Amino acid sequence: MSCSHCSQCAGIESEFDQKTATKELLAYRKEGPVKTTRILIDALLAGGISEMTLLDIGGGIGAIQHELLKAGASSCIDVEASQAYIEAAKEEAKRQGHADRTNHLHGDFVDLAEDIPQCDIVTLDRVICCYRDVRGLVEKSVAHARRLYGLVYPLDNWHARIATALENASYRLHGSPFRIFVHPPEVVEEVVRAEGFERRFYREDGMWQIAVYRRVQP
Ligand SMILES: C[S@@+](CC[C@H](N)C(=O)[O-])C[C@H]1O[C@@H](n2cnc3c(N)ncnc32)[C@H](O)[C@@H]1O
Repeated sequence: MSCSHCSQCAGIESEFDQKTATKELLAYRKEGPVKTTRILIDALLAGGISEMTLLDIGGGIGAIQHELLKAGASSCIDVEASQAYIEAAKEEAKRQGHADRTNHLHGDFVDLAEDIPQCDIVTLDRVICCYRDVRGLVEKSVAHARRLYGLVYPLDNWHARIATALENASYRLHGSPFRIFVHPPEVVEEVVRAEGFERRFYREDGMWQIAVYRRVQP
């Protein structure tokens, strides 16, 4: 499934290319998941994830997928807008011996959502900041979570806003259509709670916030 119909998706393909994917895959093999991803994984594992299904949106090289499948998750759907990341996640799934339990889909999750089944766990690790329509992405993704919803996304403060503006200026200067966004956490909280979830874990680390929500209403 192609994702080249919008400039952001084209930007994603060029920013998250094969060179980036290879570099991140080698770093993951050497050092494991990056710190904020590790925090999210540990928070998910703390409640037990045995035999649960995972939907990892914008999973990159697949650190969450690999770690949760190794820890007892039954299967995973990986929806990624970058083809290079899909290839890297596939290669690593094969290397770790769980390729047969992962289904990789290429494209914008918001476009594909209708055809994707609900899963026990849904994760978006540093994905919300790559998507303009935060409400659309959070509404559609949280509706796909039967039990747990895990997020890593930027804090909304002056530091993050200045860093984002500088980074976007650099993308503009280099002719890249890719942009990053700092979205209001209140919008995320409002949509997630309206879907029947409550927050059961929260931590801040540098410019990031890590949150895990649990469904309390069907
Ligand atoms: C900064 S990277 C993070 C990758 C990985 N989750 C990690 O933390 O290492 C953001 C990822 O989100 C993906 N992405 C952004 N919006 C998406 C969408 N609507 N559907 C699918 N993937 C998306 C991009 O392709 C990219 O791989």
